[in-house]
Amino acid sequence: MTRTSVVTGSASGIGKATKELLESRGERVIGVDLHGADVTADLTTEQGRAAMVDGVRELSGGAVDAVYAVAGLSQPAPATVAVNYFGAVATLEGLRPLLLTSAAPRAVVVSSMAALHPVDEPLVAALRAGDEIAALSRAEVMAKEPESLGRLIYSSSKRAISQWVRRQAPTALWAGAAIPLNAIGPGIIATAMTADLISTEEKKAALLEMVPMPLNGVAEAEAVAHLLAWLGGVHNTHLCGQVIYIDGGSDAVIRGDSIW
Ligand SMILES: NC(=O)c1ccc[n+]([C@@H]2O[C@H](COP(=O)([O-])OP(=O)(O)OC[C@H]3O[C@@H](n4cnc5c(N)ncnc54)[C@H](O)[C@@H]3O)[C@@H](O)[C@H]2O)c1
Repeated sequence: MTRTSVVTGSASGIGKATKELLESRGERVIGVDLHGADVTADLTTEQGRAAMVDGVRELSGGAVDAVYAVAGLSQPAPATVAVNYFGAVATLEGLRPLLLTSAAPRAVVVSSMAALHPVDEPLVAALRAGDEIAALSRAEVMAKEPESLGRLIYSSSKRAISQWVRRQAPTALWAGAAIPLNAIGPGIIATAMTADLISTEEKKAALLEMVPMPLNGVAEAEAVAHLLAWLGGVHNTHLCGQVIYIDGGSDAVIRGDSIW
């Protein structure tokens, strides 16, 4: 049977590479994005999230095999919280019912190694509570100081979504329904999101100070797509709530032995 997958953020970067890889393997992929996708939806808004679920349900006939929540922003702005956390949760929760008839249902979220960077605890707490009004208003305050607090918006959104995956994956909703739910934490990947940040050797070196990648440096989106495709594929039967760092070694450098 041909697998049907949903990829958010399918118009660019990691989402585009994942869609293309899955399609090259004969899968059917329903892409979701702000533009240039099968389903046009803005995942920062409730209406957009509802439109995403409705659009996918209509195009898939109500049954999908894998959900890849890839869409994201890295700006020091409230929209980053809205799409990276609430948009990803809405994608996974909204499409979970469509996974239930699959013989091999899978769900994967793209978090980031930035989840290991310093975060804003009040924002992470609001995200953990699922309080979008409080989270967006905290992000508004943070965005007014882009060089200090503002830059913690992205890492906070990614810390919170990684924690959400860990909390949710072993529950009846996911593991209990035989759906492996996992996340990945990429290091620096050459996409539109990072194009300016790695546009000169100086800028790239400065970024690699924060995100050390001793193994092969900055990666291409295709490398990430292959990991995502495995996590969303039939051979992944027992990974549950893992955050897999595809980061050229930054997790190993930054956290070392401290994870045990
Ligand atoms: N590039 C990196 O170095 C890197 C590192 C770690 C994690 N990530 C994560 O990978 C994911 C993909 O990023 P990328 O590097 O491919 O960036 P990208 O900018 O190339 O692609 C992101 C896609 O998400 C879409 N998107 C953004 N806001 C949206 C919204 N409100 N509704 C629907 N779609 C929306 C964009 O239109 C775009 O097509 C993101 O979650 C990002 O945080 C990227």
